[in-house]
Order: sequence, then structure tokens, then C-alpha cells
Amino acid sequence: MSTARRPLIAGNWKMHKTVAEARQLANALRAKVAAGGPEVVVCPPATALFAVAEELKGSAIAWGGQNMDWHAKGAFTGEIAPGMLTDLGCTFVIVGHSERRTLFGETDEAVCQKAEAALANGLTPIICVGETLEQREAALTDNVVIVQVQRALHGWTAEQVAKVVFAYEPVWAIGTGKTCESQEADRVCGLIRDTLARLADQATADGVRILYGGSVKPETIAEQMAKPHVDGALVGGACLEADSFAAIANYQAVAR
Ligand code: PGA
Repeated sequence: MSTARRPLIAGNWKMHKTVAEARQLANALRAKVAAGGPEVVVCPPATALFAVAEELKGSAIAWGGQNMDWHAKGAFTGEIAPGMLTDLGCTFVIVGHSERRTLFGETDEAVCQKAEAALANGLTPIICVGETLEQREAALTDNVVIVQVQRALHGWTAEQVAKVVFAYEPVWAIGTGKTCESQEADRVCGLIRDTLARLADQATADGVRILYGGSVKPETIAEQMAKPHVDGALVGGACLEADSFAAIANYQAVAR
């Protein structure tokens, strides 16, 4: 990562944790995540957000949603509005996670609308992009990632682009234990940055944080973070236990 960008470690709890378990994990993280390190955010399921907000209030750890709708309110059964997330003190929201795209039919257009609504409501969207195994094997990785980035930011101004976070998450590396080689993750994160520079300008692109996600573990984080274009991690499986997520968040202390 570049020293100009503050590293960001985000935990995606996915569909895990009851309210009681969420309180326990949030509390343990509060005790174990060292102050003065990277920015840290947890994204619990919506049912546990209120409780997690209570536990983390006043701590250095932020919280956010895993998904949201782009409408302000209305007849959208099962959805959560941006203002409902900010009402709970959320400052981040994950947008376009590959599970949302592949299992719930989320399109690039929906990702664009959600990310724009997040910004309009003062939330930082963590926009996920990445290729499937099939696409990688067909040498389509670069094309897929570039198109996802372009479509997510369609019609945006440089001021808007400056406020987002991207996460490069190769689908074949998510939940599989197969981490993308740090050199390759850095190459694709660099490609995302080049795409941002073309959509906005180089200075804007240089300020945007780009995370790597996909089987991130305490053992792999330091090597990933040493790469110039990787500014943080979006962590799934390893964020469900306080010790492993804290070890990832505290990677600078461990590396020293
Ligand atoms: P994983 O998930 O760390 O379990 O691979 C990452 C993600 O889906 O964001």
C-alpha cells in the first residue's frame, strides 16, 4: 500500500451470528484490535447491527451494512434503505459482493445505483468486483474487472469517485482457502486504479483505497499489504473469530 492511503481492514460477517454472538464478537474485537493501526470496519447481518453499534460506540472500530437498496423508502419488502443504515450509525456498506451478484441477480446497473445512493447518504460504499474461475481460465479477468468498475461508476464525477472503496475479490478465492497470489492481486488492483484514472483523473485514482478479498488469513495479510496497490482486505471466514480478525487488523504490529 501507499503511505498516502490509510489501510482499511473490513470484516464481512455474511449470514452468521445471533445478536448475542454478535455482541460477544464485537466486544472481543473492541478489546483486541490495537488502536492507531488501519481503519477497521465490521459488517454484521442487519439483524445484529443495532447491537453491534451499541457495543462498538466510542471505539476505533466502525460498522456497516452488507447490502442495501437504493430507494429512500417505500414498498420494497425485505430491503433496507440507506437512511436506515445511517440511522444505526453505519459509515460503510458493501455493494455488489459476488454472492449478491451470482445468488441474488444483482446487476452492474443495480451496483451503480446502490453505490451512488450510499454516497448521497454519507456512506462509503465498498464496491466488490472480480472474475469467476471460468472467466480467469478463459483469460477474461482484466476485461471483466474493467467493465465491472466502469459500469459501477457510470456517469460519476471525479468528486464521487474519490469517495469510494473498491474490493478486488476473485470469486474462485472466496471461501475456498485459495488465496490469489499477492503479485497477481496487486496487478489487478493496479488495473482497477488505472481504470479509475481513466474515468476520473490520476490524482483521484491515487487516493482511492483498493482492498483485496478472498480467503484472507492472518498468515497472508502482511505479504498482501506490502504490495503497492493493495490498501487493505475484505475478510469473510477469518473475521468470524475475534483472534483471527484481530490478527489481520493488527498485521502491522505482527509484521514488526
Ligand atoms: P472469505 O470471504 O474471506 O471467506 O474468502 C471474503 C468475502 O466474501 O468477502
